Amino acid sequence: MQPPPIALNFADLGRRAEAMLEELAAISAEPDRLMRLFLTPEHRRAADLVALWMREAGLEVFEDALGNVRGRIGEGPRLLVGSHIETVIDAGRYDGTFGVVAAILALDELRRAQALPKFGIELIAFGDEEASRFPTTLSTSAAVAGNFEEKTLALADAGGVTYAEALRAYGKDPVRIADAALKSGEASAYVELHIEQGPVLEAENQPLGIVTAMVGQTRLRIEVTGEASHAGTVPMDQRRDALAGAAEMTLLAERIGREAKGGLVATVGSIEAKPGAVNIVPGIVRFTLDLRAAEDAQRKAAIERFTREAQTIAERRRLEVAIALTHEIATTPCDQRLQDQLAAAVAAVGAKPVRLPSGAGHDGMSMVKLCPIAMLFVRCRGGVSHNPAEYASPADMGLAIAALVRFIENFRP
Ligand code: GLV
Ligand code: MN
Ligand code: MN
Repeated sequence: MQPPPIALNFADLGRRAEAMLEELAAISAEPDRLMRLFLTPEHRRAADLVALWMREAGLEVFEDALGNVRGRIGEGPRLLVGSHIETVIDAGRYDGTFGVVAAILALDELRRAQALPKFGIELIAFGDEEASRFPTTLSTSAAVAGNFEEKTLALADAGGVTYAEALRAYGKDPVRIADAALKSGEASAYVELHIEQGPVLEAENQPLGIVTAMVGQTRLRIEVTGEASHAGTVPMDQRRDALAGAAEMTLLAERIGREAKGGLVATVGSIEAKPGAVNIVPGIVRFTLDLRAAEDAQRKAAIERFTREAQTIAERRRLEVAIALTHEIATTPCDQRLQDQLAAAVAAVGAKPVRLPSGAGHDGMSMVKLCPIAMLFVRCRGGVSHNPAEYASPADMGLAIAALVRFIENFRP
C-alpha cells in the first residue's frame, strides 16, 4: 500500500533553498561577480559545502574521479537527481545550483518524515555543464553515463592548463574516470530541477513546467587568418583584416538565425582579435558559434550554410578560415512516462502542469545514454539567466521542491 504523502511547508522549503543558494553564491573566484569554474578552488569549496549538506540529509557521500559530488541512500536501481554546481562567468545564483539544493531539501524532508522510499536514490552535483573553462560540455555527466570521451583530457583552458592537468591538481586521477560510470541496470531514471532560463512560464503566469525535450546544439570554434599590418599606412583596399571578416561572419550567423522558421538560434558569444592593439589591423581572430534548433535537420542545414558562406566571405576578403566542431548533440526528448509522473506531482502541489521545451542544454542530454530522463522547470523573473540578475522566487522554488517530494513518493521506474 502506498504510504500517505508527507506534510510539507512549501514556504519554508523555499526560504531554506534561498538561504542555501545565498551561501553557495558567496563562493566565487571574484568578490564582485559570481564565477565558479570547473576544477578550481571555488569548485572545491562549493563541492565541500554541498557534500556537508548531503551528509546532513542522511546520504552516504563520495566524490568520483571527475569531482562530481555523489550522495547515495537506499538499495537497488537508483533514481538519480541533481544538477551542476559550477557556473558561467558573471553568473546568477540559480542556474544548476537550484537543482542540487532542491534535491538535498527534498531528500531531507523525506528522511525527517521517515518516508524515504525503498528504492535507491543518488544525488549528483555535476561539475562541467557550462563549458566555461574547457571547450567541452557535459563531460562530467557523460562520465557517469559511461560515455566520457578520452580526447577531452587534452583540451586546454584559456591559461593553457589541460583538463587532465586540472583534474590532477584537483586531486583526481584521470585513469580512474571509467570508475565514475554507472551501469545501465544501476540507474532507473535521471530527474533534474532547474530554473527555466526563458520567459515562457512567466508569460503563462505559471510557476512550474515539465520539459518535453532539450534542443540540439552545435558549437564551432572559428579561426580567421588575415595579415597583421600597420593601421596607419596600409590602404583600406589592400588590407587582409581578420576582424572585419569575422564581423561579417558574425552577421551571417545572425542572419541565418533571423531567417530560419521555427526557433533556430545562433550566437557568437566569444571573440578575440590578435595581436589586439589600437594601431594594428588584426591578423588572427578566433570566435565561437553556438547554434541550436529543435529540428536536427534544420540545425545541420544551418551549419552547412554557415560553413559555405563563411568560406565565400573569407575568399572575397583574401582571408583563410578554419572551422572546428567543439560540441554537437542531438535534440533530446524527455521520457513520456516520467513527464506524466512529474505532471501528477505538479498537480499534487496545486500547480498547472504546463509542458515546454528547453532551449538550454542540461546534463540530462548525456544522462539519457544511461537511463530515461526528465526535468522540471521553475519560473524565473524576466526569463533572465546567465546573468547576475537571474531570480526565482522562494515561493516558486518551494513549490518545485514540494513537487519533487511528491514525484519521489510516487515514483515508478
Ligand atoms: C547551458 O547553460 C547552455 O545551454 O549553454
Ligand atoms: Mn544549468
Ligand atoms: Mn547555464
